[in-house]
Formats: sequence, structure tokens, C-alpha cells
Amino acid sequence: MSGPVTLWRNARLATMCPGAPWGLIDAGALLVEGELLRWVGPESALPTALARRAEHSISLDGALVTPGLIDCHTHLVYGGHRAREFEMRLEGATYDQIARAGGGIRSTVSATRVATDGQLFKQASERAAVLMGEGVTTIEIKSGYGLSAEHEARCLRVARRIGRELPLTVRCTSLAAHALPHEFSDRPDDYIAAACAWLPELQAEGLVDAVDAFCDSIAFTPAQTRRMFEAARGLGLPVKLHAEQLSNQHGAALAAEFGALSCDHLEHLDSDGIRAMAAAGSVAVLLPGAFYFLRETRVPPIPGLRDAGVPIAIASDHNPGSSPGLSLLLMLNMACTFFRLTPEEALRGVTVHAAQALGLGATHGQLQAGRRADFVAWDLDAPNELAYWFGRNPCLRVVRAGIETVGPDA
Ligand code: NIG
Ligand code: FE
Repeated sequence: MSGPVTLWRNARLATMCPGAPWGLIDAGALLVEGELLRWVGPESALPTALARRAEHSISLDGALVTPGLIDCHTHLVYGGHRAREFEMRLEGATYDQIARAGGGIRSTVSATRVATDGQLFKQASERAAVLMGEGVTTIEIKSGYGLSAEHEARCLRVARRIGRELPLTVRCTSLAAHALPHEFSDRPDDYIAAACAWLPELQAEGLVDAVDAFCDSIAFTPAQTRRMFEAARGLGLPVKLHAEQLSNQHGAALAAEFGALSCDHLEHLDSDGIRAMAAAGSVAVLLPGAFYFLRETRVPPIPGLRDAGVPIAIASDHNPGSSPGLSLLLMLNMACTFFRLTPEEALRGVTVHAAQALGLGATHGQLQAGRRADFVAWDLDAPNELAYWFGRNPCLRVVRAGIETVGPDA
């Protein structure tokens, strides 16, 4: 390890490490060296030799400290908005009807294709900044509003640029199999073949960390999804899936066959899907913002996921159609109120399990020596308050990769 050494002391640490509830350590300290945590524990146990190495010592005044939050499912890069479709849904139209009539994802594709790279970057980085202000230090960004070789690449480049220019860790997911673009109308198999053919070039340019698809009645069939996944596997890329959101296509079991990092949405998941996910070690990413905004009534099968030991993550699913919100903390609250997660499960869902859903389980999501120094100090006494308040931002300071990005020294 190398780099500046800073001791962050006088904190109430919710490390989220296994053991005590919340991995709680009262009167805790974090010794940061460069971008990593060098030591974590009760301040009274900090070895003197290590304490002496600290060039700076900063008191957190007893604040609650958690790992940096991880939003493991977003569609942050897009043009325009869909407020008119929101009105149409309030007047009685369904998400499904709007999509089949050529609106929905395809209307955002049109708005994205005419936006310049600069506009896409500006809007997406403003959205990222809102998430970061609430303690988010890592996000996933999916493509899926370009739907051509040129425009998918453009959106992924914008996502990569966000990771370079903002103090935020960004994982990029290719979601070319999101909807059928108009130039392939009635030719979904041809579109999937084309999307599979773009993948090697996107990967060669370093734009893809994972491959996702939308497997549903208004999107792609399991057979088409399988072709996308085979292309990903051929390139050694992990897969994820928008699965069982609006109907049960048995997509989760299919994704599990490919060792999926995660299956996301899951309102219509059945017990076979749960078993398959458990066996594959896939994370269940729940998206209460989309559940809320589409006024869904069918809740994902949480007790079944718990019983099977499937790790549960929570994400914003930020996108212009089904979840235009930018508060991961609000998602914690909704995961508890709508889905009956415990506040501790909800926090694990945006730390430990969200890291796992991005393939970052060994390095991110817990406050532990050797892991990344990504953490947040909150103006709160207890960790269950994170899921309790809503419409309030108690974030005091954020440290990402050892550097303060929100707070007095940022
Ligand atoms: O995760 N389900 C598919 N994709 C997005 C919504 C996309 C949109 O409506 O623009 C989601 O909810
Ligand atoms: Fe999504």
C-alpha cells in the first residue's frame, strides 16, 4: 500500500462485515492509506505503530459511518424525458400499451440519438452528482437507449467518461437488447444478431464490463436473450438480466444458467427461478422505484429469496420511463415499506450485495482492511435511520478511494 495516510477517528462504524448486527463498532477508527483501508476497528485497539504513521487525524465527532453506497442498476445516460407518458399513464394508459404503440423506451431512443455527446455527458453527470451527494461512490450505468452500433458506443463512452471525470467508480453494462429499434421493426432476430456482432468491438474499446438484456413480453424472448448471453460468454463477459418484471418468462433461470451476476426487478419470479438463482449465486436486485412509479401491486417473493439464501440488493433503476428518481436513500425506505425488507437488509442491499451484483464483492461494499476506502459519514445516530427518514439528506462527508469528495475538505 502507498499514498497519504489519514486516521479518521471518533466514528460509529456500520462496517457491514459479518458478525455483529450492521457490523457495528462504537468509538471506531479507520486508517486510510492511499485509496485503501489499512486498518478498521475500535479506536482503543489501534496499534500505536500504525497510529504513528498517520499524517493527518480527523475526528468525525461521533458520526455514523457506513461504506460508500453502491447503486448497482441505473440507466443514467439518455436524452429527453417522458413526463407526457407519465400523464398518459395517470389518464389510464398502461406502460405496456405505451411501449407497444411506439412510445416508451423507443421514444427515449429517438431523443438520445439526436442529443450530442456533450449534452448526454452534461445531463448524465448532473444526475450522477445528485446520487453522489447522498453518499453514492459506485454506480453501474447501462446503455440501451442508443440501439445501434454507433449510438450504443456513444452512450457507453459517455458512461466511461463519467467514471474518469467524476470521483465515482462506474461499471458499464451493455444493454443493446433493451428494445427493438424502429429500423429493425418485425425483425427482432436480426436485431439480436446485429447486437451480438457489435459486442466484440465495444469490448475491444474497453466499454463493457457486463451484458444485460430485457427479457419480457414487450421486449425480447428467452431464446433471443440466450443468443445475447452466448455472445457475452464467448467474450468472457458476465451477464445480468431484467427478468420477470412484467410477466414470468423464466428469465431468471436462463440467466442463472449463465452464472449471472444478478437478475433484476423479479416481481413475477417463481420458486424455480429462486432455486436457480440460489444455485448460481446470482444477486436479486430489487427496484422499488420502478415498482412505485409503475404502480405495480405484485411484490417480489422476498420470503422465498431469503429462505433460499439469495443475496438481495436494492438500486434506483434511474431511467426516464419507469423510475425517474435520483435518491438511493429513498429506495431504502421504499424497499422496507413496499417489500418489507428490514432496514439492515436494505443497507446491505446498497453495500455488500450491490458490490456483489457488480462483480466487486471482494473489494467494495464493506469497511474492512484491504478494501477500498469508500465511506460516508452521516448526521445520524443509528444505521436504521438511513431507511427511516425520507426527503432528507443526512450525508455529511464522503470519502471515495481515500479522498474526500463531499464535506469540509472536499
Ligand atoms: O429497468 N425494464 C426495462 N427497462 C427499464 C425501463 C426503461 C424505460 O422505460 O425507459 C427498467 O425499468
Ligand atoms: Fe432497468
